[in-house]
Amino acid sequence: MKRHLASGILLLAGALLATSHSALAADADAGQGVFKAQCSICHAVAAGRNMIGPSLAGIVGRETGSVSGFHYSTANKAAKLTWDAPTLDRYLTSPRTVIPGTTMTYAGLKDDAKRADLIAYLETLK
Ligand code: HEC
Repeated sequence: MKRHLASGILLLAGALLATSHSALAADADAGQGVFKAQCSICHAVAAGRNMIGPSLAGIVGRETGSVSGFHYSTANKAAKLTWDAPTLDRYLTSPRTVIPGTTMTYAGLKDDAKRADLIAYLETLK
């Protein structure tokens, strides 16, 4: 009886470790797939290549509305945010909550793991 309980606890601990590990290990390769499926219709990753949305080259760490030659909305330009990982996380969950009035017609990515993968990919775009 006691042994069963102990091995049950070990199994539970193992399961918890496995989940927290996958939650931490954002996967940039998987994120590239998310980008292709959900963002690439409007965004290029090559510097200077603006489509419906601005180029996302070097997005992590830059200021809102800083791609030259792209016609941003006033809301995006006036937001004065730095696109660090936590800000991108909030924005990509619900763009219109973080920048009311944005012209980015994307509803948001609610899946936490996919969003983490996507941001890990965005971090590779130098
Ligand atoms: C339907 C087209 C469309 C889709 C899909 C889309 N975007 Fe956008 N995105 C835009 C537009 C347009 C803007 C400019 C918004 C403005 O000026 O208000 C923008 C702005 C942004 C910005 C702010 C850029 C800056 O320089 O301030 C980021 C970051 C961004 N998009 C990331 C993404 C990511 C990541 C995805 C995929 C999950 C995505 N977008 C999907 C059209 C889109």
